[in-house]
Amino acid sequence: MSIAVVGGAGYIGSHAVRALLAQKRDVVVIDSLETGHAESVPDDVQFYKGDIRDRAFLNEVFEHEQIEQVVHFAANSLVGESMENPLKYYDNNVFGTQILLETMTKHGVGHIVFSSSAATYGEQKDMPITEKAQTDPTSAYGETKLAMERMMKWCDAAHGTKFVSLRYFNVAGASESGVIGEDHHPETHLIPVVLQVANGQREHISIFGEDYPTEDGTCIRDYIHVEDLVDAHLLALDYLKKGGESNIFNLGSNQGFSVKEIVETARNVTGHPIPVVIGDKRAGDPAVLIASSEKARTTLGWSPSRTDITTIIEHAWNWHKNHPNGYKGAEQR
Ligand code: UFG
Repeated sequence: MSIAVVGGAGYIGSHAVRALLAQKRDVVVIDSLETGHAESVPDDVQFYKGDIRDRAFLNEVFEHEQIEQVVHFAANSLVGESMENPLKYYDNNVFGTQILLETMTKHGVGHIVFSSSAATYGEQKDMPITEKAQTDPTSAYGETKLAMERMMKWCDAAHGTKFVSLRYFNVAGASESGVIGEDHHPETHLIPVVLQVANGQREHISIFGEDYPTEDGTCIRDYIHVEDLVDAHLLALDYLKKGGESNIFNLGSNQGFSVKEIVETARNVTGHPIPVVIGDKRAGDPAVLIASSEKARTTLGWSPSRTDITTIIEHAWNWHKNHPNGYKGAEQR
């Protein structure tokens, strides 16, 4: 029996695949390669290239493989883009998840671990945010993640499909091995963009707004190392296997850093001055997002160990400085 990693060629999915292989699990990767990279999938892993919105394709994979559990990473995930093109998010994220759940139901696959997001919460008064907080997304992206969670809830009620939804805060860093890391085109996430400046690929970093109600006026986020994040997925799969009920968990490190603090840490790690330009606010950005991950710690036994922001940025820098053009050479793009 195998675990299907849907979106397994993407940034987080590729780290999950390696962690599952390290645990000697059988893994099948499904990815459209719209944003993922075939180079990140290990050679000895069965890889199916296709889109989860393609019913026939997905059905064939589930017919061919003995899939026991699904880890679902396949989605568009940019807050800014979702404000300009919300229907792209409804189509790929919501409709894609609908087809995946339909296929799982048809083939009697009863467990799914799902990549949700802190973007489901929107602007909150009380920090850190617990899973009990009222969800009120400020972006179309967050709204689609909430819709996907709700879809899974109703599939549990109707078909007994158990889910664990993991609400990620800001995922960053790269594999300690240095073999895989973050490679988005275009890159919009803060830490890789800052490191592109240090790599000489951008002249400066634009800070999106300096008049938020925070100490230095820039947004505060909770950064979580991708390998710690992936550990929670392995625990969630075990939790479901042991008969755990459907559940939702925050994944963060319970500490917040402003955009300016991230830039300063990156200056220390890279030794580059990293010039800054203050730009306009980006639509959909809440001022502060900090997680309480107490529930994941107590229920799943999750214990993140790479929570130091310098370590997170060092691991990201190790990947970016050795792979300035991601998985491929610049001439191939
Ligand atoms: N930022 C800048 N300049 C940049 C890029 C980002 O100032 O060039 C700022 C953003 O405005 C934000 C912070 O840096 O305040 C972090 O931005 P990211 O784009 O790195 O991350 P987001 O917080 O927008 O979103 C990320 C994921 C989402 C997830 C969210 C949860 O992309 O999937 O974290 O916190 F939902």
